[in-house]
Amino acid sequence: MSVFRYKKGRLYCENVSLESMAEKVGTPFYAYSHKALLSQITAYKKAFSSVPHLIAFAVKANANIAVLRVFANAGGGGDIVSSGELHRALKAGMDPKNLVFAGVGKTKKEMKDALRAGILMFNVESAQELVALDETAKALGIKAPVALRVNPDVNPKTHPYISTGLKKSKFGIEIVKAVSQYQTASLLSNIDIVGVHSHIGSQLTQVKPFVDALKRISRLISALRKRGLDIQYWNIGGGLGITYNQEKPPMPKEMAAAVLPLLKKSGCRIILEPGRSLAGNAGVMVTRVIYNKEGEAKNFLVVDAGMNDLIRPSLYSAYHELRPVVKRRRKTKVVDVVGPICESGDFLAQDREIPQMAPDELLAVMSAGAYSFTMSSNYNARPRPPEILVHGDEYEIIRKRETMKALLRGESIPAFLDQKK
Ligand code: LLP
Repeated sequence: MSVFRYKKGRLYCENVSLESMAEKVGTPFYAYSHKALLSQITAYKKAFSSVPHLIAFAVKANANIAVLRVFANAGGGGDIVSSGELHRALKAGMDPKNLVFAGVGKTKKEMKDALRAGILMFNVESAQELVALDETAKALGIKAPVALRVNPDVNPKTHPYISTGLKKSKFGIEIVKAVSQYQTASLLSNIDIVGVHSHIGSQLTQVKPFVDALKRISRLISALRKRGLDIQYWNIGGGLGITYNQEKPPMPKEMAAAVLPLLKKSGCRIILEPGRSLAGNAGVMVTRVIYNKEGEAKNFLVVDAGMNDLIRPSLYSAYHELRPVVKRRRKTKVVDVVGPICESGDFLAQDREIPQMAPDELLAVMSAGAYSFTMSSNYNARPRPPEILVHGDEYEIIRKRETMKALLRGESIPAFLDQKK
């Protein structure tokens, strides 16, 4: 059952009303449920309990150190893609031995940071990256543990921007070239091959693409072992979808049932990198209505959160359910829910039939626990919103609203602009 429920007509996160949080921190704000985060990672751990495994949360989905701590406390690790995410994961108390590093553009500086921290492995995405990593490890006098990210060329049937396993995608090493790349890697003296990695896309709502991809990787593992390569870890990536609207994505246990036979046969330690399915439905963003604006062609509901706070609708035409925080009998109305940003693409929903709302009322944007705050920006010089973690009937602000001072941090006016001629 969802942790976001109406009680006496008020929408709650666990046992705290969103209205009371809005009074405390103002709007817009993000709120996450500890219970929901924990129950999702527990569901994964249970589903994969029959194989040795690591749940490495995709930090890009929600990088707040308190959220990362929830997963660290539950034995989880992190899938990181930058020195910044490495820093966050370590600050949150994640064990470096539970961190895996992906991304097509790792710099030598980032490699050095991660090697020094002693992460579990790098997911290497190209031949040149492999050489750069070998050189970086050599300079430090150590060996870099490596899995190659292999692109299995399957169609995950999701939004093109978040589909990553096709031939034309920038990610990974083409599966047809994988064996020769592994052989090249095995000749590099400061590279230690430990595994294989793939990630085919995000918001997947069927198990078939996972199974198709993993079958191909399973054949690759056999081919590599035949050539004497020691593949101990099999990282199957993330990608499981969530319900934003009407989608019915598989639960972790259904996904596990479909892939476990293959995974078990390999004898590998299994790594998973879920992001959205761990955090997405554990969070909401709450915004306040500013105006109703009636147009000739459209009616607008203008709210105080913009695309800088939550960009998914603008960027991917993503659907986020909208719920009034105070439920009462209302007529419905078809509106565009728009923010205050000076862009036509600034909307949270378009042509959406929702209950009529008046200025000052609160609206909850559901399924905003993943890729929401992490993709926020300061566009239009708007301070980023606060984040709250709810735990039963208590809650804490885990990131304060940005201040005007923070907005200008690091900026300065050069003296030459003030010299009078
Ligand atoms: N592993 C790798 C290598 C990834 O690139 C990603 C996501 C994940 C794991 C986690 O995938 P998940 O379980 O969350 O599907 N901003 C987009 C999503 C981008 C996903 C990028 N990579 C959105 O808002 O939908």
